[in-house]
Amino acid sequence: MHTFSTVHYSSKIPEHCQCIILFIDHTNNIVSDHTLLTRFDSADILEQITSLKIESWETLCLFCKQSNIAFLCVNLDAQCKTAKDYQTVGAKLFKKIKAHTFESAAFCWPNVNETQFNVDDFMMIMKGFLNASYTFNRYKSEQADNKHVDIQHCCADINQFKVAYENLSAITDGTFLAKDLMNEPANILTPIEFCNRIKDLDNLGLEIEILDEAKCRKEKMFALLSVGQGSAQPSRLACVKWHGSKKKSDQPVALIGKGVCFDSGGINLKRAMLTEMKFDMGGAAAVIGAMVSIAKQKIPVNVIGIVALTENMTGSQAYRPSDIISSRAGKSIEVLNTDAEGRLILADAMDYATDFKPRAMIDVATLTGAIIVALGHEYAGVFCNESDLSKKLNHASDRSGEKVWQLPLDKEFDKLIDSPIADCQNISTTGGAGSITAAQFLQRFAKDIPWAHIDIAGTAWNAAPEVHGKGPSGYGVNLLTELVKEYVEE
Ligand code: BES
Ligand code: ZN
Ligand code: ZN
Repeated sequence: MHTFSTVHYSSKIPEHCQCIILFIDHTNNIVSDHTLLTRFDSADILEQITSLKIESWETLCLFCKQSNIAFLCVNLDAQCKTAKDYQTVGAKLFKKIKAHTFESAAFCWPNVNETQFNVDDFMMIMKGFLNASYTFNRYKSEQADNKHVDIQHCCADINQFKVAYENLSAITDGTFLAKDLMNEPANILTPIEFCNRIKDLDNLGLEIEILDEAKCRKEKMFALLSVGQGSAQPSRLACVKWHGSKKKSDQPVALIGKGVCFDSGGINLKRAMLTEMKFDMGGAAAVIGAMVSIAKQKIPVNVIGIVALTENMTGSQAYRPSDIISSRAGKSIEVLNTDAEGRLILADAMDYATDFKPRAMIDVATLTGAIIVALGHEYAGVFCNESDLSKKLNHASDRSGEKVWQLPLDKEFDKLIDSPIADCQNISTTGGAGSITAAQFLQRFAKDIPWAHIDIAGTAWNAAPEVHGKGPSGYGVNLLTELVKEYVEE
């Protein structure tokens, strides 16, 4: 939920504003557009800034004697700037505004023609600011005091700023939806309820199709159905289409999400992190959030979002370690561990996606604990079978500030998931390279389509707590949206 009500744009600072956000650089020079500040005593402000010395990436609140107005100063150290620095500073600004209970604030942006900052840098600050404003208090009987803050953006080139900020708003809407879906507990957000939330999105011009269990059976999605059979909650496969391209026949980009609404591990019951396993639908949440953001931005590319929704439980009907199951692609799979369920449901979803002859297919999943060992909560792991897609992903990552790190695919790793009695097995028994062997398993279902797998087990939650707080980060929404933009034809 947004805790600020209205956003205005202007080339002037409004008269009745409680707080002005002022940007300075590492040498304590004001970099905010000077023409905006003429009615204030800049000498007084500058003197205070110099005497107080604001450290790089820190914020400080000053009061201008002459006008009784607060100046929230931000030191942007352009010398070593990263997307994370900008977002963190944006989050700090939001927290300061809340702490001082300001009800209105004016961002006094630098003039991009006169400084080394650009509109994308400002958007990164706002990305951190907006994410820090996110709250989830649906289940609190007493609502926290969430007074709205009026935000004013003052900028020399207000049109350029406005276009960029509207795109960021679309991304933020998608991100907040992803965060909401992730925050919902599994007793509420069952696969059916997840589909209900998806159905609510048809007013954005998205075409929605839900496959229930009977339809999944017709489609021979026995890998997905096997994972769900130990749960009282039936599985679903949801398909969301965005017809953005001028030509209806243009091949789509396919986004595929792992939607395990709760992962108990199944018969291979987990012994740790169980309360966090409601987040195991983070891939599906990222895909649905991205579809919202893509539709709101009306990106002229055809996109299809496919999410496999299920619950991995231990009931008497549950699939067992040693079961051999079949999949939509026709490959038989020996289940050596019921906790390696994500790759099973993705196998069927990916095979379904190949029917649409996508120009590229990207799956997003909280797939392995091993990716947290390798990359922590900072980078998502990427696996890719084609260099052009890999390049596009890296570019999208730079633009979104959502970091990715590519790991290898190799036929030596592929061998490790050969089964002696079926076409493949769902885990390697050799030990090591857990994230890679999971990706190798998925690659067997990619056919020869350009495909990338993004393992977000580390980045989907407890990532960048200084920006997102404790819970979900919405990682992937921004990255996937930027990736889809890479396919816009010039
Ligand atoms: N959902 C988990 C992966 C996970 C673990 C995400 C920890 C976030 C935090 C996945 O289904 C799983 O359990 N994977 C197993 C695979 C193993 C059995 C080969 C894992 O990573 O331990
Ligand atoms: Zn699992
Ligand atoms: Zn899982």
